[in-house]
Amino acid sequence: MATLVTESYTPKKWDLAGLQGISDNTLQVHFGLYEGYVKNTNLLNEQLQEKIKAGQTTGADPHFAELTRRLGFEYNGMVLHEYYFDNMTANAAGTPTSGKLHDALAASFGDFDTWKKDFAGVGGMRGVGWAIAFQDPKSGRISNHWITLHEDGNVAGYKPIVVMDVWEHAFLLDYKPAERSKYIESFFANVNWQAAESRLVTPGT
Ligand SMILES: [Fe+2]
Repeated sequence: MATLVTESYTPKKWDLAGLQGISDNTLQVHFGLYEGYVKNTNLLNEQLQEKIKAGQTTGADPHFAELTRRLGFEYNGMVLHEYYFDNMTANAAGTPTSGKLHDALAASFGDFDTWKKDFAGVGGMRGVGWAIAFQDPKSGRISNHWITLHEDGNVAGYKPIVVMDVWEHAFLLDYKPAERSKYIESFFANVNWQAAESRLVTPGT
């Protein structure tokens, strides 16, 4: 039998101390939660490798099916947190008034402020999840999406450009549950627009 290739993910580290309106304490708790997703992704993969080795990869096996179903939650929980922490900085340069990302957002929404208002509106939706500005890699158009939990609403093949966590754990130590809009304004104050811009792909490639 061929050797199975197992990839084990290693948690990333960020130096985000001193964000505006998002405390270091919140970040420490949040990094811990993120590491839990990395751990559980690795664990699920290990358990599924055992199923493969044992020849138990049948959809009728409830254990195999449940492990497989959980991949969407754990993988997206890991990956979306990496996009989120990667698109923040304690040295934010302020909202862009020119450049590739500014122009792409303006082309898709009429102007930057209309995009921002729409994105904040998506982030303010009831429930726990994510607001994500995705780029359609074919047309270059950007659209804002609501993701329930971590896995329900992601668009296959689209590029996450600006990623905002709006689970309550992202702000509950700093704001009341009803003050999510204050957290969203803090998020905007800390966006690393350069990092977000670097995610853009050339449409049609
Ligand atoms: Fe989170």
